[in-house]
Amino acid sequence: MYICVCKGVTDHAIREAVLQGAERMRDLKVSLGITEQCGICACHAKNVLDQALMQETPTHPPGT
Ligand code: FES
Repeated sequence: MYICVCKGVTDHAIREAVLQGAERMRDLKVSLGITEQCGICACHAKNVLDQALMQETPTHPPGT
């Protein structure tokens, strides 16, 4: 699904960026160009970013 229409960025591309180390909206802006034009995608992109980061972060405490 397209998240940023201006730059043609999909939710998959955002998840890939997270796998490559993106942690903040600024990282997505630099690597994918998200929010560089109209900015309408910012809220939705943040949601996808947060979800991707949660999936990247282990839910179990260390040692369990
Ligand atoms: S939809 Fe992302 S900058 Fe316009």
